[in-house]
Amino acid sequence: MTYGRYLALDDLLSAQHPISDRHDELLFIVIHQTKELWLKQAIAEITLAIDLVRENRLVEAYKSLARVSRIQAVMTLSWDVLATMTPSDYTQFRDVLGTSSGFQSDQFRTVEVMLGVRDSARHGPMTAEAATRPSLWDEANAALARAGFAVPASALDRDWPQPYRSDPQVEAAWADVYRDTTRWWEMYQLAEKLVDIDDAMATWRHKHVLTVSRIIGGKRGTGGTAGVPYLESTLSKRAFPELWSLRTLL
Ligand code: HEM
Repeated sequence: MTYGRYLALDDLLSAQHPISDRHDELLFIVIHQTKELWLKQAIAEITLAIDLVRENRLVEAYKSLARVSRIQAVMTLSWDVLATMTPSDYTQFRDVLGTSSGFQSDQFRTVEVMLGVRDSARHGPMTAEAATRPSLWDEANAALARAGFAVPASALDRDWPQPYRSDPQVEAAWADVYRDTTRWWEMYQLAEKLVDIDDAMATWRHKHVLTVSRIIGGKRGTGGTAGVPYLESTLSKRAFPELWSLRTLL
């Protein structure tokens, strides 16, 4: 075994195919490919975390959940590299992208769906499959019910592919966890790891729209949306909505 063979570097390093002759197109490809690799790792961690939460092994799940939010932080940081590409650089090769857009990333949608965001229009094969199973939020609510909290049946036995609707009883149950953290330490820790992930996702979305407006201003997206106005409409998405709203009650 060698370093190159173990990491399949021949495949990896021959997978960048700029179409134009513009210098910045390689950066554009590398940033997107790196993001897809990190999404692959995030999906592996969320898959493990969902299984562990289902088995009531919460302490073990914290490790995967912490890893997900750190991966998200690295993805957010990569915007700083991309922002070195100016509108003048980007417009010189943007036309080669055609209608392709991060909007079509099956792995990004899968992460959303596995966490609990199920209201996005596009479903690639991986996303569609993930939507047939309970999300991380569905499993966290099931764990809360097993701990003895009054979680409504509508949150425990949902039509899984449908969007999750925030529920006042779910909010009240999680608020009780936050009111007596000593007694419910494991559930409390789980909740805060989930908030870390939602927080990191929102931060990534904010930095994306900021970078996009810096690079394309008010132009439409290559994927066909209005661009910045569309991305701004996604900023309020939350996978664990009651963990945010309960803060008002404390
Ligand atoms: C020049 C750089 C970029 C521009 C101008 C840009 C622009 C856009 C726009 C306008 C959208 C909305 C969909 C559309 O109409 O196309 C979008 C969506 C998206 N982009 Fe980017 N993007 C850029 C770089 C990136 C990078 C580097 C990533 C990944 C790290 C990324 C990931 C995504 C994802 C996941 C979506 C879907 C978001 C959602 O629907 O919630 N984009 N992008």
